[in-house]
Amino acid sequence: MLNIDLPRSERIWLMIGGASLVVFFAIILLMALVWGFHNPGQMKTIAPDAVRTTPPFDKPGLYQVGPNEYRAVMIAQMFMYQPNNVTVPAGSTVHFEVTSPDVVHGFEIPGTNVNLMVVPGHITEYTATFRNKMDRVIVCNEYCGSGHQVMLGRFVVQ
Ligand code: CUA
Repeated sequence: MLNIDLPRSERIWLMIGGASLVVFFAIILLMALVWGFHNPGQMKTIAPDAVRTTPPFDKPGLYQVGPNEYRAVMIAQMFMYQPNNVTVPAGSTVHFEVTSPDVVHGFEIPGTNVNLMVVPGHITEYTATFRNKMDRVIVCNEYCGSGHQVMLGRFVVQ
């Protein structure tokens, strides 16, 4: 310990500050290593002007890849999603793969953990399991131009 003559109240506040840093860091480690929280991946890249000719985005759609498991290959563009309507049975795990050929878009299914940023040049991937029935709007929550407010899709768990 440095032998600095600090007033008692200042030492107490320094200790409180230091302890909160330790607690916050421990929570981040717990979330990442134990609870498996992670950011939606954007590690894969794609040429934005070649989205429509690059697999899998040359055939956007919903594909069944196992029992109760689907792959949703989607394009977010001014001012629509393709496919525009995704319907899966309750209990399904869906692997979303989304990209944009033009500008940054959002991809949010309200009330779920799906809230993605879709960046041109990148493929945003996220996996979620949907246990409960729902009928939701897919919302673009990044301002993307004059038609931003009408950029909507539909996500149904039945
Ligand atoms: Cu797309 Cu706002």
